[in-house]
Amino acid sequence: MVTPPGPKAKELLNKDETYITQSAVRWYPLVAESGSGCIVKDVDGNQYIDFNSGIAVLNVGHSHPRVVQAIKDQAEKLIHYSWTDFYYKPLIDLAERLTEITPGAFRKKVFMANSGAEAVEAAMKASRWHTRRPLFLAYTSSFHGRTFGAMSLTASKPVQRRRFLPGVPQVTHVPYPYCYRCPFHLEYPECGMWCVDFIDEEVLKKYHPAEDTAAMFIEAIQGEGGYVVPPEGYFPRLKKILDKYDILMVDDEVQSGMGRTGKWFAIEHFGVTPDMITIAKALASGIPLGAVVSKEELMDWEGGSHANTFGGNPVACAAALQVIQIIKQERLLENAHNQGTYLVKRLKELQQKYPIIGEVRGKGLMVGAEIVKDPETKEPAAQEVQDMMNICFKRGLAIITSGKSAMRFAPPLVITREIIDAGLEIFEGAVKEVSKQLN
Ligand SMILES: Cc1ncc(COP(=O)(O)O)c(C=O)c1O
Repeated sequence: MVTPPGPKAKELLNKDETYITQSAVRWYPLVAESGSGCIVKDVDGNQYIDFNSGIAVLNVGHSHPRVVQAIKDQAEKLIHYSWTDFYYKPLIDLAERLTEITPGAFRKKVFMANSGAEAVEAAMKASRWHTRRPLFLAYTSSFHGRTFGAMSLTASKPVQRRRFLPGVPQVTHVPYPYCYRCPFHLEYPECGMWCVDFIDEEVLKKYHPAEDTAAMFIEAIQGEGGYVVPPEGYFPRLKKILDKYDILMVDDEVQSGMGRTGKWFAIEHFGVTPDMITIAKALASGIPLGAVVSKEELMDWEGGSHANTFGGNPVACAAALQVIQIIKQERLLENAHNQGTYLVKRLKELQQKYPIIGEVRGKGLMVGAEIVKDPETKEPAAQEVQDMMNICFKRGLAIITSGKSAMRFAPPLVITREIIDAGLEIFEGAVKEVSKQLN
């Protein structure tokens, strides 16, 4: 309709600048007004193909009619009644469903939260309580949220920690298995996965006592870190080391869960069963909701030790129950797998044409394309990837970046091949233009 930001968007951007704190940095001036399926519309009537899903939240698409109806029905019946003080059915039903869809054929317990960070906090506290151990392990480039506990695990960008530290003592960060840019400058598989043994030999045996370590927080596929997929065999080997020392594996599936990768949870691609899982983002299709699903025996904390007011809100639980049904009935795991396979194939074809695309990786519809200045040196094209993103936005594709220089493809799981093609046409135009600038 108009080159964004249009007049109505500009008016709101000015007002936003007056009233909204600048701690959030927006990707580009998309002022969203409505959404349907894979399309988001701005206040000036521009339509965008949504490869963001509101940052991996709208897995069943924008305003899925069944989710909308469930929210309306529940709001008419009961909006709130504090699950940590009383009882209500949608929460109990949702907890039951979550124990069914999460990996592990053992008995489980669920804690309900409001967000990803709050779920991570709960998992930190539950694992400390159960193990009576104070320490944690996490990964470099990880993202687990912004509250003090979650921030202490997060190691994605200095700006997220600067002037906020000290955080929760003690978290030791170890290198994530990022083979394209191996932190040890080794090559897989010749490396023998030194990055796993490093944790045992150089960290646990030297300065971070295993017997004082409650849990290791992992992302099965690193989200904010660049949509990085660990190599085959990595997690089973890690789990063996953790089990040797009775260190819990807490799998943060806030971004990668709820079908995003073609399985309910990304860890299912890697043949290990974590001890605890944190879930949020896509769980209730945009209504704030988080959850921790744990092996039953690990949630043995005493009554009153941890609670909240709004976690597991009935409206959010009603939405989440619909999300789970929709993913099953519309076969969205299958669609995520099929469309994701197609997306990767198309991106790999583009990689052949444009050397600026250094690597294409992902599972299901969690796909990253690393943009580099030179495929030999792999020098990150940090500015170029931002330019690409902005060109896409102006031409009707809402997509953002991840890590230092990766394009992040995370469309709703309801996406069709036609919409992928339309989105990739815009993306290719941007790649072409930015490639020209580089030469
Ligand atoms: C893996 C992961 N964990 C935790 C969080 C934090 O979630 P929230 O923003 O809901 O606090 C995020 C957010 O991007 C995430 O990607």
